[in-house]
Amino acid sequence: MRSLRSYYILGVLEQVATDIKRGFLLLAREDNQAVGVAYIVTILSAEHCGLVAWLEELYVTPSHRCRGIGAALVSAALDRARAASIVAVDLEIDAEHSRVESLYQRFGFSRLNRTRWVKVLN
Ligand SMILES: CC(C)(COP(=O)(O)OP(=O)(O)OC[C@H]1O[C@@H](n2cnc3c(N)ncnc32)[C@H](O)[C@@H]1OP(=O)(O)O)[C@@H](O)C(=O)NCCC(=O)NCCS
Repeated sequence: MRSLRSYYILGVLEQVATDIKRGFLLLAREDNQAVGVAYIVTILSAEHCGLVAWLEELYVTPSHRCRGIGAALVSAALDRARAASIVAVDLEIDAEHSRVESLYQRFGFSRLNRTRWVKVLN
């Protein structure tokens, strides 16, 4: 049985997949099976004076890593963002995923001198 959280996640993914103004979802497939995903949402940014994409998730299944799928997803996400007149792409890197820094650096991303904070409202 699906947990309540999975239903919420499905609802969110459905909104992003069906409303380009909210963002977009890219899937990498092999033999009709999803092996990677990039999840991008957009915000109207005062700092960047325009639409900014937040690359919230980049994931490739462990058995398919280091074969260029992650890079292909980032490249496709940047192309799609440019086509949608998005002016910048933001992302964060969890401490335990620091190995991914080299991948983002190859695409021209650079580290900001800030920390990210959150307050959950429910
Ligand atoms: C990061 C990730 C999407 C890369 O996908 P991929 O298909 O292996 O990437 P590519 O083959 O195109 O490129 C290889 C690069 O991916 C990164 N990478 C590979 N395995 C990784 C891992 N287990 N964790 C983090 N980054 C990894 C490295 O930057 C690597 O470059 P390097 O060989 O110079 O170190 C994938 O490893 C993954 O899903 N990791 C777990 C989740 C994660 O770290 N997400 C990043 C967002 S914080």
